[in-house]
Amino acid sequence: MGINYGQLVRGDRIHASLLHDPEAFADEMERIFVNGWVFVGHESEIKEHGDWVTRQLGTESVIMVRESDDSVKVLANRCSHRGTALCWEQRGNNSFFQCTYHNWRFGLDGSVRAIPFPDGYDTPKEDLGLDAAKRLETHRGFVFVNLDGSAGPLADHLGAAGYELIDRLCDLSPTGEIDLSKGWIAHRVQSNWKLWPESDSDGYHVGFVHASMSETTDTYYDEVAVGGDAVRRSRAVDYGNGHIELDWRPSYQRQLAWLGITRDKVESYCEALTERDGTESAEQMLWDGPPHAFLFPNLFLGELVIAIVEPVGPGEMIHRHTSVQFEGVSEDFNRRLLRQTEAAVGPASFITSDDAITAERIQAGISGTQRSWADQDRGWIDLSRGLHREQIDETGARSSDASDETTNRGFWHRYLEIMTEQV
Ligand code: FES
Ligand SMILES: [Fe+2]
Repeated sequence: MGINYGQLVRGDRIHASLLHDPEAFADEMERIFVNGWVFVGHESEIKEHGDWVTRQLGTESVIMVRESDDSVKVLANRCSHRGTALCWEQRGNNSFFQCTYHNWRFGLDGSVRAIPFPDGYDTPKEDLGLDAAKRLETHRGFVFVNLDGSAGPLADHLGAAGYELIDRLCDLSPTGEIDLSKGWIAHRVQSNWKLWPESDSDGYHVGFVHASMSETTDTYYDEVAVGGDAVRRSRAVDYGNGHIELDWRPSYQRQLAWLGITRDKVESYCEALTERDGTESAEQMLWDGPPHAFLFPNLFLGELVIAIVEPVGPGEMIHRHTSVQFEGVSEDFNRRLLRQTEAAVGPASFITSDDAITAERIQAGISGTQRSWADQDRGWIDLSRGLHREQIDETGARSSDASDETTNRGFWHRYLEIMTEQV
């Protein structure tokens, strides 16, 4: 018998067994990562024809490649003959992919180009190509796919809020273009993948888990997230469809706080925004900065960092991040963005290691819980904080104090919808 998700995901709590149950994990990989829309990468990572990167979408390894007609294709990283992985590196440039087992050769579009001793086959060549994502759509260079082609349009998944969050980031670049080709740093964590959307959008823990950062560095997180009045002004927002934000905007005490710099240091950048959008909206953008938001199920827009959540198994995942770079700014400006990313979430930083240890402690705490305990009222995780003080605006977005679990509930609400959808 399958899992009764309706019993295990409630409005104010979820059952901890969902964070380690192998059957739940298998259901999620199918329903969320194969049947639904997932983020793959950014077009700036594959600028030239033949450029490719490998990515993990749930349990599926894929190759995102720039074809010779300039289009982007997402192919299974799996030879259609006997399954050998084709690409072992994280990125490269090729005019074709060749399998190392029996040397089948595939074009950048995934079609078979050459088979050694082909007279052994009477199957038409067209039937022997690589599996490819059935649907692919992009927005501002962000590439999303639906592997099996069964989802509706991307617009239904992202909704107006999903597009607005991506736009809010990209519009900060003077040309409107961002570049994510600096490379990705991966942290392998012994935790369930769902703990990351939860912690990336949890405003409650910041002052505790990240206290050492606050004490030793001069960070704007003291203003927007760490405690007292800060969490009163910032907002936890649930836009629906599992897209959630910690909206820092009401807490910033000055323009460009999110860049940790004063205006006189980046005057030409500010002028470029003004020239493009006019004074009023440029001045507002300099206050607002980029979003701190999670787009369901695997894309974290972490201000000037982009992170991908890659599930590995019920108790293991990879958190992969890169620095946002802007087009149309000086080298110094982009170097600053890179340094800021390293300081915030790089290997020698505070945030990722603090969050990774916390996620592993949660995993240790919940790993013995059993699904059957739900009936005995044991093994629940409470997500009720702030339920009584949420507000709903005219677009249907729910928001509350940034320390409230409105964001976490938003993630699980979408999870429940997907896991109980009739397919
Ligand atoms: S497995 Fe790839 S060519 Fe045989
Ligand atoms: Fe954190």
